[in-house]
Amino acid sequence: MEIKSSNSKFILSLVLLIFFFIKGQCQSKFFFLDHYGAVEGGQVDNSKALQKAWEDACKWKGGSNLVIPKGTYLVNPIQLIGPCSGPIEFQNTGTLKAPLGLNGDFWIEFRYIDRLTLNGGGSFDGQGPPKEGSSNLPTLLRFSFVTNSKAQDVKLINSPNTHFNLFGCNNTELFKITISSPGDSHNTDGIKIGHSNGIKISKLTYSFRR
Ligand SMILES: *[C@@H]1O[C@H](CO)[C@@H](O)[C@H](O)[C@H]1NC(C)=O
Repeated sequence: MEIKSSNSKFILSLVLLIFFFIKGQCQSKFFFLDHYGAVEGGQVDNSKALQKAWEDACKWKGGSNLVIPKGTYLVNPIQLIGPCSGPIEFQNTGTLKAPLGLNGDFWIEFRYIDRLTLNGGGSFDGQGPPKEGSSNLPTLLRFSFVTNSKAQDVKLINSPNTHFNLFGCNNTELFKITISSPGDSHNTDGIKIGHSNGIKISKLTYSFRR
């Protein structure tokens, strides 16, 4: 009787040990933008901090979670490039804000990434029209060659041009995306998709503000 009970205790501890080991392996590691010297308030460019946080999160072998905290963070045009070592979550809980008079092809591009999740309920604010006389009309958010991914609970606002562009993407879901711009803004398209397969879109809200 005694032997049996100590045996089962041993087995129980072993099972718990294995459970916590696996749980530890599966847990995402968090990377917070403000731990990379980012300054909240919308005055200082934080693209270097974001680039560094992305690099660390992307090379983390396991699930990683890059968190944009509550608050407004100004970011110049930036490319966040994979491939990453594991699934990666980009959790924007605040506002990422573009500089006034955006220029170039795009503002934020995610490229060559498998298992990307974009979420957090925050906003991507393009701050409206491009530079006066500019021939470029930048896309607000671009997914290029992104696969098995998801964007959900994301607000895309005030793009100079297309709000969301997917190019060369496979098996990617857009869920509860809100797109909003002034009604008189120039050429603000919603979502453009090209050379992609298996793109699922649901609960999209598109509004022109007066
Ligand atoms: C998407 O799928 C197509 C067709 O299977 C394939 O040719 C292409 O390489 C895939 N794209 C990516 C980024 O994996």
